[in-house]
Amino acid sequence: MAANTYRFPVQVIFGEGCLEETGAFVGNFGKHALLVTGSGPTSKCAAVEVLQGILTGEGITVSHFAGIEADPSVETVEKGVAFAGENGCDFVIALGGGSPLDAAKVIAARLNNEGDIVSWEGLGRIPRRSKPLICIPTTSGTGSEVTWVAVITGGKRRQKMSIVSQNLYPVLAIIDPELTYSMPPELTAATGMDALTHAVESCVARRAWEPTRSLSLKAAQLAYTNLEKACADGSDGEARHNMSMASFLAGMAFTSAGLGLAHALAHALGSHSGLAHGKANAILLPHVMRFNIAACPELYRELAVAMGLNVSGLPAPRAAEEAARAVQELVAVLPIPSHLEEAGIAETSLETLAAEAFLNTRLRSTNPRDTVLEDLVQVLRNASGG
Ligand SMILES: [Fe+2]
Repeated sequence: MAANTYRFPVQVIFGEGCLEETGAFVGNFGKHALLVTGSGPTSKCAAVEVLQGILTGEGITVSHFAGIEADPSVETVEKGVAFAGENGCDFVIALGGGSPLDAAKVIAARLNNEGDIVSWEGLGRIPRRSKPLICIPTTSGTGSEVTWVAVITGGKRRQKMSIVSQNLYPVLAIIDPELTYSMPPELTAATGMDALTHAVESCVARRAWEPTRSLSLKAAQLAYTNLEKACADGSDGEARHNMSMASFLAGMAFTSAGLGLAHALAHALGSHSGLAHGKANAILLPHVMRFNIAACPELYRELAVAMGLNVSGLPAPRAAEEAARAVQELVAVLPIPSHLEEAGIAETSLETLAAEAFLNTRLRSTNPRDTVLEDLVQVLRNASGG
């Protein structure tokens, strides 16, 4: 058996208004920052202006690359690398959701490493440490600011490639829950369900152990009990705080423990149909939980208890089923699709999607229950209709 591992080399600043304190932490990284943001409204949001003001006040020149699309491509990353090179940037700051953060990770890595990004897919294929990278999330779901993973679209099949490396870690994460207040309900729901999926999958993953599982259980509790509130009232500071905390804790858990089948399937759905990552996870999670119950009923009981469900006296498999049912009921009241059909995924595409997901041996290998191709088809069928 492999030794248990706990990875956490990222310095984290967390708290309402902590964006304002960025100046105290950036002085050592360089004199010319590449600022990476999405291409939509976030590229012009107040937080970008505040950040630029802080950096300029510290004597740092800022070059702003605002071209990151959802599910960023290898080509976009290379444009960012060229832009950074032209402007002489010596460190990188990413502000936004999972897509800008993931793209910035690979841009920062590419600035210190030659080679084809596609060849970095998988574990441990980036030779040297990236340029210093600071991540500032504006959503609460991805946890990318504290993980060693970046998901980039590319390769022969235009698939979502997970690039996983010790050399991808940011040096600093600045997590300011106030930056998430302006997220609309649909984005809050989708990204929040990504956080809950990270919590649940990392809790039962094969590489999970005591410290990672503590993080997973706390993250599941916070996400399950706060997501509906954060969607109903985006200015609910307590719910926003707790969702940011859930995302952060789940990120720390899964960067060491790994994920599982919901993520393998969600990546295939994203690659083939463009279904947003969090929406795919939301639809799939209860069905993957039910599939996995036979492998680890006691762990799902622990999750049910953490989520605040009354499962006392129930045998572990029944308590586990309650946890899956509660997740499904939560998704049903959120402003996102509950089934693949509702999300526009045709029944006829399920076998192709399962075959694509089956190629993701890394995520399947951390899932607690072994899988054959037909299992993946069945989980997708279960998630297909009401
Ligand atoms: Fe995810």
